[in-house]
Amino acid sequence: MRIVICDNYDEMSKKAALIVASQINMKPNAVLGLATGSTPEGMYRILVDMYNNKEVDFSEVTTFNLDEYYPISKSNSQSYDFFMKKHLFSHINVPEANINIPNGEACDAEKECEEYENKIASFGGIDLQILGIGQNGHIGFNEPDEFLYSNTHKTGLTESTISANSRFFASAGDVPKNALTMGIATILKSKKIVLLACGKSKHDAISKLISGKITTLCPATMLNVHRDLVVICDKEAYHG
Ligand code: GLP
Repeated sequence: MRIVICDNYDEMSKKAALIVASQINMKPNAVLGLATGSTPEGMYRILVDMYNNKEVDFSEVTTFNLDEYYPISKSNSQSYDFFMKKHLFSHINVPEANINIPNGEACDAEKECEEYENKIASFGGIDLQILGIGQNGHIGFNEPDEFLYSNTHKTGLTESTISANSRFFASAGDVPKNALTMGIATILKSKKIVLLACGKSKHDAISKLISGKITTLCPATMLNVHRDLVVICDKEAYHG
């Protein structure tokens, strides 16, 4: 694991955007794994600027998002589908056919998850996966539990996550109780992983991740087995 400690959010976002752009410049048809949440918003803003300045071209890129609430309509402004269009996809030239997000409107969640997992595999896996981290150490929507799932699956959300994410909804009661998410193995099969964390509220989860101990009670610690993980965080997430 490589740890990069940044002075602030902007520096973290810039470093992450440069890694994504380099990945695409090295492999124009790269397969990207993308994350939502407030943490990667700055990175997406910089990537849009880089695209406008012709420093990166998304025309051959394929994307797979980590997760989506379930059930949720794509037109709901809190859906991750809506988030990705708002912050990235509607500003760059990635073809719509190359964009993949678990379908929060699917009638059969199990079938949707199985097809999603197979589609990632059919592309030869993810070249670069961007991750945020939950305050409780979740990655994607793999929540702390006695056991974790390997593949893309439907999962319930913990009270901690519902409460943390309720800031985006009218009330905690409006946060969907379930989600579709890549599993731990789906994520670990990515060739390169970049995890972003910012602010004191992530300190506990980051400390557990970098302690090197692995526990399903802090899913991010599973990343310790990955060969090519870069954690980019600000001082507050690192030092507390
Ligand atoms: C959500 C997402 C995660 C994300 C996490 C942190 O629950 N499912 O993929 O990493 O929250 O979000 P934020 O960056 O807003 O703190």
